[in-house]
Amino acid sequence: MKSEEIRKKFLDFFKEKGHKIVPSSSLLPTDPSVLFTTAGMQQFKEYFLGKKSPFGKRVTSCQKCFRTSDIEEVGNDRHLTFLEMLGNFSFGDYFKKETIEWALEFLTGLCKIPNSKLWFGYFKGDSNVPEDKESYKILQKLGIPKNRIYGFGREDNFWGPTGEEGPCGPTCEVHYDLTQESCSKGKDCIPNCECGGFIEIWNLVFNEYYQDRNKKLTPLKQKGVDTGMGLERLAMVLQGKSSVFETDLFTSVIKEIEKQSSQSYTDNPKAYRIMADHIKGAVFLASEGVIPSNLEQGYTLRRILRRAIRFGKLLNLPKNSLIPIAQKATAIYQDIYPKVKTQEADILTILQNEEEKFEKTLERGLKEFRYQIEKCQEKIIPGRVVFDLYQSYGFPLELTEELAKEEGLKVDKQGFEGALKKHQEISRAGVEKKFGGVGKEATHQAAKLHTATHLLHQALREVLGEHVKQMGSDITPQRLRFDFSHPAKLTEDELKKVEDLVNQKIKEDLKIQKEEMSYEKAIRAGALAFFKEKYPEKVKVYSIGDFSKEICGGPHVSHTGELGHFKIIKEESSGAGVRRIRAIPK
Ligand code: ALA
Repeated sequence: MKSEEIRKKFLDFFKEKGHKIVPSSSLLPTDPSVLFTTAGMQQFKEYFLGKKSPFGKRVTSCQKCFRTSDIEEVGNDRHLTFLEMLGNFSFGDYFKKETIEWALEFLTGLCKIPNSKLWFGYFKGDSNVPEDKESYKILQKLGIPKNRIYGFGREDNFWGPTGEEGPCGPTCEVHYDLTQESCSKGKDCIPNCECGGFIEIWNLVFNEYYQDRNKKLTPLKQKGVDTGMGLERLAMVLQGKSSVFETDLFTSVIKEIEKQSSQSYTDNPKAYRIMADHIKGAVFLASEGVIPSNLEQGYTLRRILRRAIRFGKLLNLPKNSLIPIAQKATAIYQDIYPKVKTQEADILTILQNEEEKFEKTLERGLKEFRYQIEKCQEKIIPGRVVFDLYQSYGFPLELTEELAKEEGLKVDKQGFEGALKKHQEISRAGVEKKFGGVGKEATHQAAKLHTATHLLHQALREVLGEHVKQMGSDITPQRLRFDFSHPAKLTEDELKKVEDLVNQKIKEDLKIQKEEMSYEKAIRAGALAFFKEKYPEKVKVYSIGDFSKEICGGPHVSHTGELGHFKIIKEESSGAGVRRIRAIPK
């Protein structure tokens, strides 16, 4: 069964059971406490908590997910960063019985998996949450013999919440028996066995609790169902393959790497898999407007791209090899997720820029790394060396850690973080110095430039699109400088439109209002944010009429009219996929 058919069969199956098919949400969630969408339930979080779902009480979806937690596992036959999750959800409607019945019906009926290959895990209970006897009974009633049902603890059979708080509960997991033979553990070779003889394919979560920030559980008023089945894993099972990388969701990508490499897939499957997974993940992140940087989502994109590039080197791939590989990935998904095609030019530019940038320093960085480990007396690479590799050669911390591990060494992570912090403090002090000892006039000028920056940010988003995000900002008494994500040079026409829009808003003499609220509320209210991890619990939100809303420390002027006139003096590149504008009030 082709993956396309699997997706469709799943959604149609649940549609017939009264579910509404809801499209995948973005990989970048609105929940500010998580960086990426890691599960299908995320876009429905509030409906589990009692808010009325506009889609009804039963929904089904195929959700794009990105999981950083599994980066290091990628390379084995089943873990991925980017994956698609098939799910059915109930918000206070059906519960365990239907969920388990339908899962069996889908797998054995529609997918024709022999019942005897399916094993089950359920929650065996602990000091806080009782054993899930109900799921056990349902499984037995459905004819599953005892020797294929096992109880497990929190680690394996309790799920959620995503982020800092939210719905969670015991789970019933469906495992597929790959080998039908026991490993050396004999009778103890059961699901979750380290031998890998079983693969978890479907997680059925019964949301019965709310976990708060202090990890306290309270029963939910309304019980819910959240299930997730990895499309790649189901495809692996249904296509009779021994790894997700051999399914139709990967073969063209693997073949393209093979075409360019002097080694075959079987020579170095780990390197092939890492490249294939990471490039695919990068394509999807870039398709959502993420640009490589040293922060948050951008940092993750940089990290996976640079890791892919390094493994590409091990496979002797020539320069500029990412593009044809990425094109294979976009071809696989263009019909399901059209954005990868409509944004293809931008995605490929982003990948190529990052490849070119890292190409320049990778070789030298590796040389420096080898030189340093030879000098290294202890088994730990000092923090300042790790920082130097980061700062001068563009090695993400995790890359150095991985290289070190391959040599049987560790890195001084704390030392690295200390060096990074010191570096950031020095740059910040430099900025503050420029405005040091400010008088009234200078303060007003700083306020004017802050307000102008917000107007510029919003104008750029309206003219160029919502992918525009602040990547940096700097003001001096003379001018403002604003860095933002955008893949191409701005045309004269675009620059004029932006400038005109800012000037129009100045002319409208909009009122600037300040409110204080929680960070989460601010994001929900649509405020733009930057450097989110640095924000305190309560933040200041500045609104400029209905035009702009941003989290910011201020200060700002009280009316846009005070700005007089706004002029862009320069537009240039500031790194891969990042543009820089300098402007002055006149
Ligand atoms: N939300 C559950 C998971 O991601 C289904 O495994």
